[in-house]
Amino acid sequence: MNFNLTEEQELIQQAARDFARTELLPGVIERDEHAIAPTAQIKSMQDMGFLGMMVSPEYGGMGMDTISYVLVMEELSKIDAASSVVVSVQNSLVNWGLEHYGTELQKQKYLVPLASGKAIGAFALSEPEAGSDATRQRTTAIDKGDYYLLNGTKNWITNASEADYFIVVAHTHPELGYKGINAFIVEKGMPGFVLGPAENKMGMRASHTHSLMFTDVQIPKENRIGDDGFGFKYAMLSLNGGRIGIAAQALGLAQGALDLSVKYSKERKSFGKYISEHQAVAFKLAEMDIRTEAARNLVYKAAWLKDEHKNYAKASAIAKYYAAETAMFVTTEAVQIHGGYGYVKEYHVERLMREAKLTQIYEGTSEIQKIAVSRDLLK
Ligand code: CAA
Repeated sequence: MNFNLTEEQELIQQAARDFARTELLPGVIERDEHAIAPTAQIKSMQDMGFLGMMVSPEYGGMGMDTISYVLVMEELSKIDAASSVVVSVQNSLVNWGLEHYGTELQKQKYLVPLASGKAIGAFALSEPEAGSDATRQRTTAIDKGDYYLLNGTKNWITNASEADYFIVVAHTHPELGYKGINAFIVEKGMPGFVLGPAENKMGMRASHTHSLMFTDVQIPKENRIGDDGFGFKYAMLSLNGGRIGIAAQALGLAQGALDLSVKYSKERKSFGKYISEHQAVAFKLAEMDIRTEAARNLVYKAAWLKDEHKNYAKASAIAKYYAAETAMFVTTEAVQIHGGYGYVKEYHVERLMREAKLTQIYEGTSEIQKIAVSRDLLK
């Protein structure tokens, strides 16, 4: 086993750390409070190459590995998880699948602008009545000979207001169950495609989430990804990688809250000494650190398995589950350590706690990760 990062991985980690402090930290509280999309920050992340960091240089990406991606996600999320969401969705749920399963035409037309960050992508699987139970897609894409006719509604779509291209999952042959599902590339502005209003969320408020409505949208035949009926598998395979990204986001949230708590506990005095000198606080910090380090090992391992081309489906579910639970635990403890100051916005930890909650929900709830793990265990 080798726990060392390569020189390239250390460089990208440091670059992301510096970037987060200089570009993401200013205004993060205001963007959260007023749900302001991080448009300038997304542009800067595009300039840094973060939006296509795992795409091969052949298609205009940086050709980096999953460990580097996880390091970047962790550093960005320590400071501003709402801005890191776009990096996660773009890399894991959009670019990865197009590069692995897209046709050459799809790659040239869609992946190249996505890899450079000039275009933003979104992934549309969830529906009002098909969230965790994702095989029950109601959206249909019926084969009309020259095109597919798309009808239905998608919910909880991250990046939706920024996105140029959407990976949309829909039933083509409802009688075949999940084997009749396909994934399509849908472009913003296609006639019949309407964006719903932004959700007013508890956390990750600067990352806008919308529903999508499709009424008789004509999708060119060449925009189907993979063979007929591959769509559900495609979505699941994409989510395996997506869960590593969200696990890294949760890890960053935990580490960010821990760092703030260590700093605060060495500045704040009570009963005549720094609160870090009270064992009640020191033990809390120790447990926060222990769980964060355990999460880090699981997240890096899942990323390493993916880079080694080994099966990482179970490892990504374990990492996502544990890192999200850790983020919730650590951020809640961080608020407690900060006391009253933890409950107001200037100290950041209340925002981290609200953001951590989403990591237990999106890209598969904690319960979905347990389904994945238990099925693998019992098969
Ligand atoms: N990797 C690869 N294949 C998988 C898979 C995985 N993790 N999970 C399931 N599959 C495959 C199965 O092997 C099976 O295929 P075969 O018959 O060829 O073997 C097929 O998919 C159907 O699987 P199941 O029979 O297990 O289906 P199920 O309905 O019992 O359970 C589920 C499926 C695992 C619960 C799945 O529905 C699931 O993961 N649900 C959660 C969906 C989710 O994460 N939604 C979030 C959407 S993204 C988001 O949050 C929005 C955003 O913008 C970021």
